[in-house]
Amino acid sequence: MLKFVYDGGVFVYSYRAEKRHFLFLRNGRGWLDIPKGHAEKGERIMDTALRETKEETGLDVVPDRFFRHSLAYWTKEDGQRAKKIVTVFIAEVPQAANVRVSDEHVGYVWLSCEDALRQVSFKDTKELVMEADSYLDRKARIEKLNREYRKLPSKVKGWDLSANFVAGEGPPNAKVAVIGQAPGRSEDASGRPFVGRSGQLLTKLLMIAGLRREQVYITSVVQFFPPKNRVPSDKEIALCRGFLYRQLDIIKPRLVVVLGGVALKELLGIGEIMKVHGRLMKKDRNYFITLHPAAAVRIKSNVPIIESDFRKLKGALSSL
Ligand code: URA
Repeated sequence: MLKFVYDGGVFVYSYRAEKRHFLFLRNGRGWLDIPKGHAEKGERIMDTALRETKEETGLDVVPDRFFRHSLAYWTKEDGQRAKKIVTVFIAEVPQAANVRVSDEHVGYVWLSCEDALRQVSFKDTKELVMEADSYLDRKARIEKLNREYRKLPSKVKGWDLSANFVAGEGPPNAKVAVIGQAPGRSEDASGRPFVGRSGQLLTKLLMIAGLRREQVYITSVVQFFPPKNRVPSDKEIALCRGFLYRQLDIIKPRLVVVLGGVALKELLGIGEIMKVHGRLMKKDRNYFITLHPAAAVRIKSNVPIIESDFRKLKGALSSL
């Protein structure tokens, strides 16, 4: 019978002379590795990763909320051939962080992305380096964009939306982006998109499509709450347009889920959602059209319609 072994690890990074460097541990054979090890019985893989990192480096780390990378390779466990699945998280530590290697390793080194790609031996470690580096580049670009757009209310005369900016949320390299209309009251208060009743429904609908909320990037056409929950005006949509498309250009999702009429008009120039929902459309990107979850929160007869759309979304995702 095929045996599986689960490992968890953390790819630790730090900024040295303003450049990102990754932490590698050197084993007795001279190979470079990352802190990782076996999951104990009943242990969550994130806890394994944190425990192993503490044991092998002495570092207490806080992992990035969205990054996950999986490696899989054949190994031998108790003399038996086994498939090892490694889940890797990433975590930043301050430049002054004090690394103390355990007796499992003979030393450590901080390497830039370019040096790491030259020095690591295994193909899957190189892939991890490239994915982590590209993820962190995109994350930094999104954060810069957020800083710029947060200031929008103070720059526009006669600003009529809330002054609270609700940034997009999710992995900056997500395969799927979800675009709503504008934040509601709960989002305005918390600063996070889709956390109110529509958001709770969205999380359940994504599960119908086989997606965890943490896997998708969630944002809206407008990032500021329109008072009394009114529909944002054309002028307000135009003011936020740059933010929407610049986010998509950074994330480069393979599929954009269009939630409701405002997003449909903005992204695809189509006016009648009831004629096109449940469809995959290929234009400059792949778009999947569905109702806004708020329409199903307000009108119960929309629930089976939106659920059926998300079942179709599951099919659309497998066809991409
Ligand atoms: N509805 C939206 O369209 N966007 C949000 O962020 C929240 C609710």
